[in-house]
Amino acid sequence: MPSLAAKKSTRTPARSGRPAPELIFGDLWEFDPAPETADPKLKSRYDLFIDGQFVAPKSGRYFDTINPANERKLAEIALAGRDDVDAAYQAAQRAFDTTWGRMPGRERAKYIFRIARLLQDRAREFAVAETLDGGKPIKESRDFDVPMTAAHFFYHAGWADKLEYVAPGHRVAPLGVVGQVIPWNFPLLMLAWKIAPALAMGNTVVLKPAETTSITALKLAEILQDAELPPGVVNFVSGAGETGAAVMSHPTPVKIAFTGSTEVGKIIMRSLAGTEKKMTMELGGKAANVVFDDAPIDQAVEGIVNGIFFNQGHVCCAGSRLLVHEPIADLVLAKLKNRLKVLRVGDPMDKNTDIGAINSKPQLQKIQELVESGVKDGAEMFQPACRLPSKGYYFRPTIFSGVTMSHRIAREEIFGPVLSMLTFRTVDEAIEKANNTAYGLSAGVWTDKGSRILKMSTELKAGVVWANTYNKFDPTSPFGGYKESGFGREGGRQGLLDYAKLI
Ligand code: NAI
Ligand code: MG
Repeated sequence: MPSLAAKKSTRTPARSGRPAPELIFGDLWEFDPAPETADPKLKSRYDLFIDGQFVAPKSGRYFDTINPANERKLAEIALAGRDDVDAAYQAAQRAFDTTWGRMPGRERAKYIFRIARLLQDRAREFAVAETLDGGKPIKESRDFDVPMTAAHFFYHAGWADKLEYVAPGHRVAPLGVVGQVIPWNFPLLMLAWKIAPALAMGNTVVLKPAETTSITALKLAEILQDAELPPGVVNFVSGAGETGAAVMSHPTPVKIAFTGSTEVGKIIMRSLAGTEKKMTMELGGKAANVVFDDAPIDQAVEGIVNGIFFNQGHVCCAGSRLLVHEPIADLVLAKLKNRLKVLRVGDPMDKNTDIGAINSKPQLQKIQELVESGVKDGAEMFQPACRLPSKGYYFRPTIFSGVTMSHRIAREEIFGPVLSMLTFRTVDEAIEKANNTAYGLSAGVWTDKGSRILKMSTELKAGVVWANTYNKFDPTSPFGGYKESGFGREGGRQGLLDYAKLI
């Protein structure tokens, strides 16, 4: 509901008579601006974090990180070269051999717990930094990213002194040094997914954040110092693909973990073929969100919107393919259009913003290119008439209807706020269409029938299947894919075991 301060938008012309279904609540009410004002305490320059210290890169090179909401420079970030990556691995190996790898789990737990508590203390500051550097709405970084990051550290702190129960019938031991590379869509959360289980199990880490979103990792390094984590247990080397390749191909790590594009995942796997290294890969997705005619439709519409427009669609498990039962297809489409008209697109720092900035110019171009292909292929496009800021990278939430499986927008990962809608008539057709993809990360099912939920979740080839909800996360629940979406699990007991040696 609009607040008392709300003013009715003058953008949409007044209408008379009985409204058509798609116009029932089609007008956007303007809210007064509600900017988040907490100080993100940014430094103008961020160095590498190696052996417990911030150190300048040996090459002396830095690159700019910008705010994608307005294209302004936020800070300079150190560019790690091979020598720096080497120094980071030496520190990690030393820490594994002398402190962390030998420390009893109950002692490690105290450090991990402290990291979680210190992050909670600085939650607002971290949320603002995450939004400025990455473009996601402040309400998401504040209510999802930062609390979930803390939750992952708490959860794994809880495991560290109970590792004798993690694999019944076995004793477990750490693997050693691990190398990790993460993407830009959930910078802090992906860092927690990688670091928390590794540390709980007794491994040490060299991690590379994504080049567009390094700030919160390097701010977290301040927390690691405040938590008095022994030097070298966690090392951050910032940089782009070349630094990532140096982290993944270095001889020291016994395990590497990667989250990012399927394309880069394949390059890494090829480069490590024939080595003994353990690997986990969390790659792309093209999830089907399947809505049956007995579903609670308004709830499903909210779930569909959350499934694809959450975080600008920069979500590997985004419900980017909507499969709707034919009898309700028109109704669902009308309700979705309604809902899109009242989504707020714009300044990510405004507390009312639903859809913030696209993370980078190349990502915006990729979304634009795929959307153009959808129009050319003959699908019908709907976008609400929202005004976009003149500076920064923004894209209107978009729905394509009349999509067929041969369209690129039905097959390729768009990684933007773009929904492709298809229809089906029978359960078998829904299953076949949902599984007709190279990916297999996640899926959603909306129906009133428990038996149908069970059948669908058994038949859908996806690592996660949500029923009558979407995009729900919990540290206790394992996450990961099938097919080209990768292998290995993060979260839960299964995620921990990917960082353990069974004895
Ligand atoms: P990307 O796979 O290039 O980047 C992910 C991470 O890998 C970044 O930290 C990057 O610096 C690093 N990297 C790049 N090349 C590398 C290499 N040769 N060796 C090791 N590390 C390397 O993804 P990008 O270009 O940022 O996004 C392209 C597309 O990938 C997106 O449009 C989206 O479709 C998909 N993507 C999927 C993600 C997921 O969570 N599954 C996350 C990010 C992107
Ligand atoms: Mg940035």
